[in-house]
Amino acid sequence: MTTFLYGYVSELTMSDVYSPPDRVVVESHCKGMDEYKKMYDESIKQPHKFWGNIAEQFFWKTPVPDDLSEFMKYNFNVSESPIKIEWMCGAQTNICYNALDRNVEAGLGDKIAFYWVGNDPADKGQITYRELLAEVCKFSNVLVNLGVKKGDRVAIYMPMVTELVVAMLACARIGAVHSIVFGGYSADSLATRILDAGARVLVTADGVYRGTKLIKLLQIATAAMEKAAEQGQEVSHHICVSHLPRLVNPGTEEAMQEHTASIESGWKTGRDNWWHELMRDALPDHTPEWVDSEDPLFMLYTSGSTGKPKGVLHSTAGYMLYTATTFKHSFDHQPETDVYWCTADIGWITGHSYVTYGPLLNSATSVLFEGTPFYPDHRRCWEIISEYKVSKFYTAPTAIRSLMKFGSDQTKPYDLSSLKVLGTVGEPINPEAWQWYHSVVGQGQCSITDTYWQTETGGHIITPLPGATHTKPGSACFPFFGVVPEILDEEGKVIEGEGEGYIVFKQPWPGMMRTVYGDHERFEKTYFSKFPGYYMSGDGAKRDKDGYIWITGRIDDMLNCSGHLMSTAQIESVLVEHSLVAEAAVVPIPHLIKGEALYCFVTMIDGEVYTKEIRDQLKTMIREKIAPFATPDYIQEAPGLPKTRSGKIMRRVLKKIANDETDLGDISTMADSTVVEVLFSKRQEMLDSK
Ligand code: WT7
Repeated sequence: MTTFLYGYVSELTMSDVYSPPDRVVVESHCKGMDEYKKMYDESIKQPHKFWGNIAEQFFWKTPVPDDLSEFMKYNFNVSESPIKIEWMCGAQTNICYNALDRNVEAGLGDKIAFYWVGNDPADKGQITYRELLAEVCKFSNVLVNLGVKKGDRVAIYMPMVTELVVAMLACARIGAVHSIVFGGYSADSLATRILDAGARVLVTADGVYRGTKLIKLLQIATAAMEKAAEQGQEVSHHICVSHLPRLVNPGTEEAMQEHTASIESGWKTGRDNWWHELMRDALPDHTPEWVDSEDPLFMLYTSGSTGKPKGVLHSTAGYMLYTATTFKHSFDHQPETDVYWCTADIGWITGHSYVTYGPLLNSATSVLFEGTPFYPDHRRCWEIISEYKVSKFYTAPTAIRSLMKFGSDQTKPYDLSSLKVLGTVGEPINPEAWQWYHSVVGQGQCSITDTYWQTETGGHIITPLPGATHTKPGSACFPFFGVVPEILDEEGKVIEGEGEGYIVFKQPWPGMMRTVYGDHERFEKTYFSKFPGYYMSGDGAKRDKDGYIWITGRIDDMLNCSGHLMSTAQIESVLVEHSLVAEAAVVPIPHLIKGEALYCFVTMIDGEVYTKEIRDQLKTMIREKIAPFATPDYIQEAPGLPKTRSGKIMRRVLKKIANDETDLGDISTMADSTVVEVLFSKRQEMLDSK
């Protein structure tokens, strides 16, 4: 079974408990464990009552059913295939209407929806609920005019600008399915996703600065459109936001030249349009398309263990209730006073659920940040928190660990007293980082909420509640409302009480995924086949004597590098595309900042010599075919790989070699154990030459 990252969870830290601070408890929506238990029980035993009450706060064109049999229908048992998850069938609504129109009609039109904070501190803006609605209505008309209809897929490849929120909400408003691709992905990755989704419309921006680096989004998108077209998927309409010219410091000449150059080089009249030109001519009013509860809202790709990314499909009404409710409770959102800031990019699920949908459904005021925590320097977050009086802050363990390097005095010059809740997400947080977050950023006055979830789960599934849970550093604590976790052993036997195993879920919650786009069989196989009757997350977990849940990390062939989930197979398939590489195996190794880093073993084809040039070529291939964030830290030559007699690569052994652990455990099934010694010496060779 997997151990904790770095193996740092001692019995001592497992018994540290932090009570919620009074200043959080007094205003909390759920003030203690008794209240949590009462609400939790209702959510499990009477889901239709629990979620039905919540549904009443939203607008339904056709009301939600009130009996349980219609409210929640599901089959988690593969032997009675198909796997099915349906919530509130028969009801009709529109999530964009609930996020915008409903708030404006309630008198919140002038409330700020987003403070936009640019990469350069000089760039800033803000947009109210009324203004956001007006933009969304116009862009809905733009899409309709281009022939986009309910159910069509729209690909979006954009930086963190308000137009990204406008584009996704406009898709939701007209019933189109958005497929957002993170702006750090390469042209190949974008092309694959355009192809798989069958998207004919693409929304982009000319470019963006990340720190001092200019990311040429339009150039990448143009290449991606070409690649997709070569494979038969023609983008017929591409809409590009002209972002660089409006920056206060557009990085000046280079950016402006880039802006003009990319237009001149690949721009195709007819296909390519400027956002502002289409918006200028668009009509201001738009009536939302009323959609069924189970109509798809969006798809978002996540890594799959076979290497091919999976288009995780989410539907409308359940996702709406779930993101709204998790946002309200996990961050204890106070609509009158809170300023909320989630640092995640909208290109990931965290941005979908907790930058856009969750906050807007709760009429929140948020910071929308284009930049990075390290530009102009590592004080950027503290500056933003004190300037906007952020009260709820949500970021990733990898960011916390990189900031820790700058010492505990860095926050001193800033007034961070507005902070009340500090959230983390993306990977297990080590207790040391948790404690630093609590004492240095939160000054001992905040609740920490370690939210465990996945692209597939739509929203938090195991998480503390800031005013109720007595937290333990490194534990995601207890299930959210509606979520029923179990821990299973390898044979699928339920582990009661203390123990460690696979974390699985027994019944659906409203926000979970419905299928893999275009491949329901893969959905069933990936998540429901190993343990019939359960949704399997792919993560390991431990339950301690007090019932706290500790996520231990992936137990499948996935690795999590700075919160980016990747499959080893996906990296391996790029490595073997090199004409001189015969075979490759990739394993994660612990990394102090990134959590995990990639360690690759490559076997050259017979007679070829592994060189530094080949290593650099392999790194470039990964950057170009996947993304820069997937670049490996180590690539070592492997004249042979440890395999079982049936030819299966023994990754468990490779992991040990990568970590220089000589105790390899049981290797009796290995076909040729002489490779091990060679691998250890090649490892040393690689380190010596670095
Ligand atoms: C995987 C999902 C959920 C949004 C960001 C990542 C790991 C996520 C935690 C946490 C321990 C965590 C899991 C999970 N993970 N949050 N709080 N504690 N592990 O979304 O790319 O779908 O990755 O991230 O391994 O399965 P994702």
